[in-house]
Amino acid sequence: MFMSKDLSQEEILELYRREDPEELYRRAEHLTRQNFGEEVFLRALVEFTNYCSCDCHYCGISRSNLGVNRYRLDEETLMSVIEKGLEKGMNTFVLQGGEDPKWPAKRIAKLVKEIRLRFGNEFALTLSCGLKSKEEYALMKEAGANRYLMRFETSDPELFKQYTGGKSLERRLQGLRDLHDMGWEVGSGYMTGLPGETEEIRINNALLCQQLGLHMLGIGPFIPHPDTPLKDAEQQPLEWALKGTALLRLLLPKANIPATTAAGTLDPRGREQMLQAGANVLMPNITPVVHKKDYLLYPGKICLDESGFECVGCLTLRCEGIDRELSFKRGDSPSFTGV
Ligand code: SAM
Ligand code: FES
Repeated sequence: MFMSKDLSQEEILELYRREDPEELYRRAEHLTRQNFGEEVFLRALVEFTNYCSCDCHYCGISRSNLGVNRYRLDEETLMSVIEKGLEKGMNTFVLQGGEDPKWPAKRIAKLVKEIRLRFGNEFALTLSCGLKSKEEYALMKEAGANRYLMRFETSDPELFKQYTGGKSLERRLQGLRDLHDMGWEVGSGYMTGLPGETEEIRINNALLCQQLGLHMLGIGPFIPHPDTPLKDAEQQPLEWALKGTALLRLLLPKANIPATTAAGTLDPRGREQMLQAGANVLMPNITPVVHKKDYLLYPGKICLDESGFECVGCLTLRCEGIDRELSFKRGDSPSFTGV
């Protein structure tokens, strides 16, 4: 069989541009199985604050959305969520939040240190709390965090500026390069289907991920939120995210790629479809149930009424249904050499 790793970038893009994506998906899944076997790594997501000083036009919890019921979890709550996750055998935790001035890098670093003191160093701690300075990244890494996620959202500088209220894509990319240079395991990614996005931008999005040498890649369909400036945007097909996933897998064979909640929101089998197009990660949301409905980045978000711990059973079955197996391993990206 003609292996995907033998494909040149030109051949990968030719496959991507074909009208029928089946061969693209088939090769991406084959390559995923080659690198990861049947395993689908589980990452437990904790949405620790929905306060945000940013005003991204696509995002349901942006500063200007005054209808959001704001919350932030405190240290003790976060400790108990992680403790419960560890008891259930989870080995990766992702602490995600808006850019919350009351949760500055210093406080996050202190929390991370405390988590390490109490629970040890075996499991992976991922942070996803926005753009920071090099010094702030250093503080959080020294405290014991391992991975950082920060999507660049779109590779088009003009669209980025437009939808973030004037911010600079270059500055965000510099943040990702800083993280990389400092030895973090780094993840980024983008949404598919933002208004004004073209097929060329979608391809450039994937190529930018490759240029940045990312270890983790998160993409998902943009879903318009009714209380944001992009409320009237057209919902674009899930297929754009599926094709993007497959393209990323072929360009970055060893990266960890989640089948994202946004895909599961747009289609009940969206996450399975993503897994069958090159994804190898699932992220149950273990945020305390009382707060889940307040972290509504987009409408219709799934699994709001149950605890992420209950979701594990459902995810296990979903994996089995497509001949894959949910894995609790820490699952560092094989492309990450570590420092
Ligand atoms: N503050 C962190 C940061 O800057 O990286 C986390 C940002 S946000 C809570 C997490 C991700 O949700 C964003 O990077 C964006 O890609 C995605 N997102 C936001 N609004 C969305 C929407 N309407 N549809 C789909 N995804 C959305
Ligand atoms: Fe800050 Fe969405 S605008 S998390």
